[in-house]
Amino acid sequence: MAKIIVIGGAGYIGSHTVNMLCDLDHEVTVVDNFSTGKYENIDERATAIPADICDRFGMDIVMQGKQPDVVLCFAGLKAAGESNVNATEYARVNIGGVLNVLHAMKKANVRKFVFSSSAAVYGIPETLPITEKSKLDPINYYGHTKLAIEKELEIFATLKHIQFVSLRYFNAAGFKFETDKNFTPHRETSVTNLLPIVMETAIGERPYVEIFGTDYNTDDGTGVRDYIHVSDLADAHIYAMGYLNKNRYSYVFNLGSGSGYSVQEVIDAAIKVTGRDIPIVKKGRRAGDPDKVIASSFRANTDLLWRPKYDNMEDILSSMWKVYSRKER
Ligand code: WQD
Repeated sequence: MAKIIVIGGAGYIGSHTVNMLCDLDHEVTVVDNFSTGKYENIDERATAIPADICDRFGMDIVMQGKQPDVVLCFAGLKAAGESNVNATEYARVNIGGVLNVLHAMKKANVRKFVFSSSAAVYGIPETLPITEKSKLDPINYYGHTKLAIEKELEIFATLKHIQFVSLRYFNAAGFKFETDKNFTPHRETSVTNLLPIVMETAIGERPYVEIFGTDYNTDDGTGVRDYIHVSDLADAHIYAMGYLNKNRYSYVFNLGSGSGYSVQEVIDAAIKVTGRDIPIVKKGRRAGDPDKVIASSFRANTDLLWRPKYDNMEDILSSMWKVYSRKER
């Protein structure tokens, strides 16, 4: 059993990971400022500490007080479009905040770190599937912040302050399939991603789904993305911790399913899963959207021994429909 601090553990991916860590009998402390995460997302077996990664003194107190074996960091702002408009806030939180965490770890001699990175570090892919060796050329400030922290992690690792694994998520989706007496995931609010928007349309909270672009170089002309189930992402963090225990090295891994679904395929699958009509309105392309984004997770398959279990879109959507169709919302 390890002592684990999960920063951002009240959020979507963080709370699913906390639940999985509690199932494995680890001692889990969730640190979150609850700006977007929800207290009711936190597994009842975990301890919760309200704290902000932008509060350097607060991070020092947490690290020295808890002396964790490993720190998982999910905290950060993640709306790609918003990041270009509000770059200074994204720099303050995503870069400054995580640097506070790393400095606090160094002072407390806490050495193992798993970082929540993103496929956004790649920008527009030149070739598919995207590997960890693909060109790093983020096209939004959100992607820049993730790449900037990865570069800081390399420096901290070279100076032997920490050993890290950085996990580059592709398109996270879904909710835990099984019901759990300790953990009830809640939907996110003010969403910008396709699948939550499709779900909000299915329950009548939105009049239609806007399809951003129907002239992409794909089979049906709509954008193709690599959707990865949140439980598979949570699982990958467990494997990443194992990797840090077994090796002295630090590494970066893509986390995707290796297959892609178009916007139209997602909508067709959602109509089938929900039994609801899902009206669409065809719009022009969204700035910065590539035609296709598909991951190669070969390195994670071989080095972490991690493989996604849930890559069927209807399964992913049905796990969401359970949450969105719940009476109490
Ligand atoms: C998916 C597809 C849109 C909304 C973003 C971040 C990325 C990562 C994952 C964190 C695209 C289309 C969307 C809508 C649409 N986040 N779409 N109508 O842009 O692939 O990736 O989330 O790490 O960093 O950039 O995800 O869900 O916004 O879009 O047609 O109302 O759906 O054009 O083809 P994206 P998305």
